Amino acid sequence: MTDFVRNQWYVAAYSEEVGEPLLGRTILGEPIVLYRTQDGTAVALSDRCVHRRYPLSLSGRDGDRIVCGYHGFTYEPSGACVYVPGQTRIPRTARVPAYPVVEQDSLVWVWIGEPERADAGTIPRVPWLSSPAYTTVRGMEPLAARYGLLVDNLLDLSHETYLHGGYIGTPEVAETPITTEVDEGAGIVHVRRRMKDVECPPFYAKSTGIEGRIDRWQDIEYHPPGLYLLHSRIAPTGVEPGPDGDDSAACHAEIVYAITPETANSTLDFWMVARDFAVGDEEVSDYLAKSNHTVVMQDVVALNALELAIAGEPDGYQELSINIDTGGLAARRLLRKLAGA
Ligand SMILES: [Fe+2]
Repeated sequence: MTDFVRNQWYVAAYSEEVGEPLLGRTILGEPIVLYRTQDGTAVALSDRCVHRRYPLSLSGRDGDRIVCGYHGFTYEPSGACVYVPGQTRIPRTARVPAYPVVEQDSLVWVWIGEPERADAGTIPRVPWLSSPAYTTVRGMEPLAARYGLLVDNLLDLSHETYLHGGYIGTPEVAETPITTEVDEGAGIVHVRRRMKDVECPPFYAKSTGIEGRIDRWQDIEYHPPGLYLLHSRIAPTGVEPGPDGDDSAACHAEIVYAITPETANSTLDFWMVARDFAVGDEEVSDYLAKSNHTVVMQDVVALNALELAIAGEPDGYQELSINIDTGGLAARRLLRKLAGA
């Protein structure tokens, strides 16, 4: 069981999800309501009215304020209550917690923990998502499984061969060993798998148009707890980056997952695929969106089943780990360290 890691930034939503309507999300067990003020600022407040705990996300707005849909308690974006019904005196404790919010790279990050410890400079950047040189498709799937299972899943891509055959999995993925490195200072796990002269899976053959065999790189960067980057490089066999680092003859897909724990046994699985090939090509976007959604759902079904399988096990149940698990085990170690800090 991986504990929650508090005092961290988590992706609460995509920028386009936050607007005039009130959006309810639960993060680390905390109910949160998100919306955008009239000047465009994203706001995150506790989603429970101080009066009788009614969800503010089911309420209405009056300009930048939220008016509780049950008895009309009215809140400023700061969380301060400015109106209660039937009396002029507003109780001193009438305030809902406001969460620090940072919106960048088309993601809305929310700080879960002590607000005075929030430092926007520690949020990892994801520049591809808002770069005109890339086209991105994305979605979000709720997962009925603890977030640690998604971390394990993403750090060990050998499962592609078995769970995602016909999409992104080929025999060579499971057969090719990985190298794992932990940057202790930065707290990042790197897992690399470099495949030479291998089969091109349909996901990349159809989207890049590359025919024949490829060199395929999977370079993972996991920024615990909430952000996972897979730098995927696909090139016809033998095509190498130039001595000046120019790699424009290859295709690059930046696969991004924001892993946001919802409750102890559920997770928000934000998935994104940014590409520097077929930029703006809607047919390719449709294909990649559909294919990646299928791949994500294959994982969702598997991890939901895994959650049910392990939920009844006593703590400290026996696992057997092998070489493919070095990335996942390193991630668990960093998560334990962060949870204890
Ligand atoms: Fe998967």
